[in-house]
Amino acid sequence: MKQLTLLLLGVFAIVVSSEAAPLPTLERRGAAAQLIVDGQPWLIRGGEVANTASSSLAYMDTVWPKLTRLNLNTVLVAIAWAWVEPAEGKFDFALVDGLLAGARANNQRVIFLWFGSWKNGISSFVPAWVKADQARFPRVRVAGGQSVEILSPLSATALAADTRAYVKFMEHLREADPQRTTLMIQLQNEVGVLGDSRDRSDAANAAFAGAVPAELMKYLAAHQAGLAPALAKLWAEAGGKTAGTWTEVFGTSPATDELFMAWHYAKFMGGMTAAGKAVYPLPVFTNTWIVQPEDKGPGDYPSGGPQPLSLDVWKAGAPAIDLNCPDIYLPNFDEQVASFQRPDNPVFVPESRGDAGGAANAFYAIGAHASLGYSPFGIDNTGRLVVLRPEPGAPAPTELEGLPLAKAYAVLRDLTPLILEHQQKGTIRAAWLTTTKPRQEIALGNHTLTVELRKNRRTGKLSAELGYAMVCGLGPDDYLVAGTDVQVTFTPRPPGAPIAGIADAEAGEVRDGRWVPGRKMSGDDILVDYNLAKAAAANQSGSGLMFGPDGPTLQRVKLYRYR
Ligand code: DGJ
Repeated sequence: MKQLTLLLLGVFAIVVSSEAAPLPTLERRGAAAQLIVDGQPWLIRGGEVANTASSSLAYMDTVWPKLTRLNLNTVLVAIAWAWVEPAEGKFDFALVDGLLAGARANNQRVIFLWFGSWKNGISSFVPAWVKADQARFPRVRVAGGQSVEILSPLSATALAADTRAYVKFMEHLREADPQRTTLMIQLQNEVGVLGDSRDRSDAANAAFAGAVPAELMKYLAAHQAGLAPALAKLWAEAGGKTAGTWTEVFGTSPATDELFMAWHYAKFMGGMTAAGKAVYPLPVFTNTWIVQPEDKGPGDYPSGGPQPLSLDVWKAGAPAIDLNCPDIYLPNFDEQVASFQRPDNPVFVPESRGDAGGAANAFYAIGAHASLGYSPFGIDNTGRLVVLRPEPGAPAPTELEGLPLAKAYAVLRDLTPLILEHQQKGTIRAAWLTTTKPRQEIALGNHTLTVELRKNRRTGKLSAELGYAMVCGLGPDDYLVAGTDVQVTFTPRPPGAPIAGIADAEAGEVRDGRWVPGRKMSGDDILVDYNLAKAAAANQSGSGLMFGPDGPTLQRVKLYRYR
C-alpha cells in the first residue's frame, strides 16, 4: 500500500512538473538579450515597492490595484532574510506565498529582491540572531578598528548562513510557483562597504596583503581587450603585472581597495547565486548604488559594488550572476545607463524615477539599450509618480491613469511586440533630451534622424524642458516614432538625392503588433520650420514629425527624396 502511495505520488509529481510553465530565462535573441517568459520575450513594465512594503500583506492589498491601474506587468518586492528565518533554522514562507497569490490575483509577475546580508551596504535586514552574534558573524571594521553594522563579505559563516536561507527560499519558490509568477531574483541590494574604502578586519587585512587570486588575474588576462577602460588604466599604470599583491597589481589608490572589496562581494554573491540556481535556476541580477557627485571616494558610496570600474572583477568572481544593474536617480540617466551596457552585461533598470522623467528614462533604456524593461522605485507611493521625492505628507494623486508613467506604460504595452522584434533585429533607437542636451542624431535605415526638444517654429526657441522618442525602423524609409515633446527631422544617407520629404505621415496606434492609422498628418502638423530658404540650404525640407506634451503619442512616416 505504502509503495502504491509512493508510486502515485511520483506520478503526480511528474504530471505537475510537466504541466509547469517553462522557466523564465535570459536568452540572446538576435541583437538583444531578452527575458523569456512562458517561452516568449517579455518586456518589464515594472515598479519597485518601498523597502518594507512587502512585509505586510494587508498593505500590499492596497497596492495591487494601483499597479494594474498604472499598467504595470511586473512588481519588484523585497523578501528579507529576517522575515523568513526569524529563528535560526526555522523557516516560514507564508509571506512569499501571500505575495505570489496577490500578484497572481492582480495579473502581475514578480521579481523578488533578496534582502539578505546587505541592503544599501548595511546589514539591517539580517535576522536578529545573526546581528546579535558578532563572534560567529564578524562585521566589517573601518579605519580605527571600529566595527559597523555590515557583515564582512570575507566571513565564511555569514556566507553559509545567508546561502542556506536563500537556497531554502529558492526551494520554496520551485515548489510554490509552478506558474512562474516569479521572473527573476535581485540578490542583495547596493552592496559595498560604507564608512571606509575597504574592510579593515584582521581577516580582510591579511587577504589584502596577500596575492590577487590567480583566478582573477587569469580572467583579466583572458578578457584584456574588453576590460572596463578605468580598470585597464589602473592595471596598466601599475605596470601591467600578471601576479602580485593588490597594491602591486592595481596601485595604491582607494580604487584598489574598491576592487578588493568587489572581489570578495562577488565571490560571496556568486556562490549564493550558484547554490540558488542549483535548486531553481531563475535569472539573477544585482543592483548598484552608483557614484554620486558629492562622493569623494569609495566608502562614501558602497565600496565594492558592481560599478562600471569593477564589472570585470564581478564577472570573474560571480559568473552565475546574469546581469549587474544600476539604480539611477542622477540627472544624466543616459550616460549612467550606457555605462552598464556591455556585451556580457545586458541592461535592466530596477530602480529609478517614476515621474515624467521616469517615462523618458523607460523609453530611452528600452529603445537605446535594449533594456529588459524599467522599474521606478516606491511605486506604492503615487506621489513619487509626480515628483522624484515628494515632501512627507504631500497628497498623493489618486487619478492614476493620466500620470506620465501610466500613459507611458500603456504605450509600451501596446508597442511590446514591435519593441521586442526590433530589439532582436537591432532596428530600434531612442533619444533622451533635456535643455542641456536638446538634440540627438540617430542613424537608422536610409536616414539620419535629428531628434530635438520641441521648438517654436517661428523663433526656434525651446518649448519643452524634457523630451524623448523611441524609433522603430519599419523599412529603410519607413519609421514608427513614439514621442513626447520632441520634433524629428530626416536627412537621407548617401547615395541618392540629398533631401528627405514626407511622402506620408499618420498619427495612430499599435494594436496586436500592427499599425492602426488614425489622422493623416500634414500642413501645420508637420511644418517644423517656416524658414524654407535656411532649411533648403541645409538640405532640409522644413517638414518633420512633431510630438506635443500630451504623450507619448505615435506617428508613422514614409519618406521620399528630392534635390
Ligand atoms: C536606493 C535603494 O536601493 C532603495 O532600496 C531605496 O532605499 C532607495 N534608494 C530610496 O531612494
